[in-house]
Amino acid sequence: MPIPKSFIQQLLMYCDIEDIVSSYLPLKREGKNQKTLCPFHSEKTPSMVIYPNTQSFYCFGCGAGGDVISFIMRIENLDYVEAVHFLAKRVGLTVPEEGESDRAGQIKARILEINRESARFFHHCLKSPMGRAGYEYFKQRQLSDQTIVKYGLGFAPDSWNALRDHLRKKGFTYEEMEQAAVVRKGRNDSVYDQFRNRVMFPIIDVRGNVIAFGGRVLDDSKPKYLNSNDTLVFKKSRNLFSLNFAKNSKEKRLILAEGYMDVIAIHAAGFENVVATLGTALTSEQSRLISKYAEEVVIAYDSDEAGQKATHRAINLLSEVGVSTKILKMEGAKDPDEYIKKFGAKRFEILLDASGDVIEFELGKIKKQFDIEDTNGKVEYTRRSVSVLASVKNRLEREVYAGLVAKETGVTVDSLMAQADALIKKRRRAEEKKEWNVIQTNQKVLSDRINPEKARHLRAARAEEGIIALLLRYPDSCGEILSKIREEDFVTQFNQCVFSRINTLFRANNEIGLSDLNPDFSEPEFDRIAAMVAESENENAAIAMLEDYISVLREYRSSLKAQDVKTLTPEDLERYRQEKSSR
Ligand code: UTP
Ligand code: MN
Repeated sequence: MPIPKSFIQQLLMYCDIEDIVSSYLPLKREGKNQKTLCPFHSEKTPSMVIYPNTQSFYCFGCGAGGDVISFIMRIENLDYVEAVHFLAKRVGLTVPEEGESDRAGQIKARILEINRESARFFHHCLKSPMGRAGYEYFKQRQLSDQTIVKYGLGFAPDSWNALRDHLRKKGFTYEEMEQAAVVRKGRNDSVYDQFRNRVMFPIIDVRGNVIAFGGRVLDDSKPKYLNSNDTLVFKKSRNLFSLNFAKNSKEKRLILAEGYMDVIAIHAAGFENVVATLGTALTSEQSRLISKYAEEVVIAYDSDEAGQKATHRAINLLSEVGVSTKILKMEGAKDPDEYIKKFGAKRFEILLDASGDVIEFELGKIKKQFDIEDTNGKVEYTRRSVSVLASVKNRLEREVYAGLVAKETGVTVDSLMAQADALIKKRRRAEEKKEWNVIQTNQKVLSDRINPEKARHLRAARAEEGIIALLLRYPDSCGEILSKIREEDFVTQFNQCVFSRINTLFRANNEIGLSDLNPDFSEPEFDRIAAMVAESENENAAIAMLEDYISVLREYRSSLKAQDVKTLTPEDLERYRQEKSSR
């Protein structure tokens, strides 16, 4: 039995969206709504709006939206059921017993079982003759048996179906294996192993579940690393490799490395407080996750250009969540793995303690590039330093660094500060412009992906969205609205599906709200629905618009009939045919 609807309603009564969101973020009132910097993407001007009326939120920047439960799902990194429990605990309610038939929960449990069994299988292979090449590879990279066991490392045999057949014997279906992303679908519905002839790194979450895998080739072929696709239990952008170990560390400092092998080498050298992202640059979700476990992060990325770029990104994201950053100054090795092998753990520890302050790191780098004895060199050095100074948020701190630059160049602190101020203003303006552009593109992309028919039937889709928004904003008028419009009147499939769900739920419960739709739609779909409600936040959304919306849809129908049949898609035709026969 899923969590009873009546309980969700009770919970929502206790969890006002403004209260909940404001416990995470400072809100600024704007009319009857509140505004804040969106925690789900990086921005400097607020574009997230909280709507007390509909108890919803929507970010015009990244398109994230939903109800109070989906806010918690995102910010606390939880699934739906977990978020309900989290909120219930917070307000002192007890969630009624949930039974077995929570469908998504069941699938998740099966995925986790498959993952655990796969990890066992890979590990077993590594130790068997079939996995010799893998074992030798790890040995050549100087991993001890102890480390191999601790990380549960493994080997995926050079076969199209070794894991598949093993899991089949253990009673898992192909469908379940696909849901766990350990197999892929080939031609004529056969499935084959996703990971072949690779050494395997299980990815384990803070609760100890195996949630995904990374696999590395043994030679120089491409792609070097293959990571599991996202599944119901795994999102690359929300997890960190080795956080299951790092979370136990007493240290307030966390080392952020670039990849699997660096993490394992650093860990094996005695530093357990190390994590890495999973084949992507650091995301804002990951930086928030980090902020729960650490106050300071030492960034230990590769010393190549890509690594340096990624370092800048990480500094920015981490500073946004209040985590201070330091940068490992590695010389004589391309990454921590190589450094530890060359110079040993002791030297690495010294490096960690000496890891520099971000600003000194940047200033030092520039200084090396210019000869400040030379006038031109000095001018250029000063110019670049001002650019670094402008990135220091705190004014007092900025003055301290300006002092350092002043000493070296003879330019006064006041002049440096004034130049930095001017640059900060200029950057802020550029940033705002950029954010605005992102907002505009996001909106387009977003609507296209979720409702691909929208672009083709724009006017109809807008009317449909208006109707959906009315239904969700004016629950009292729901019955009346529903009596005036039918599912078949909808033109685009996604909106039709939303409408149909609202209709069904309303008939069953005699009421409806945004939150009722949460369990039935994926996160991006729910974002879209929240957007409809958010965008209708103006006078146009008044109930009086209903007739207009309906006539747009009716008109649309008749114009469809007049159209040249050749330009209709098969779906249009089918709809048209059905409609005709139902008359
Ligand atoms: P690197 O190419 O620096 O790999 O990529 P590495 O960790 O130094 O690996 P070794 O030492 O050659 O074994 C860093 C990280 O980027 C991701 C992986 O998470 C990797 O650990 N990556 C890299 C991929 O996801 N796919 C790739 O094809 C390459
Ligand atoms: Mn590397």
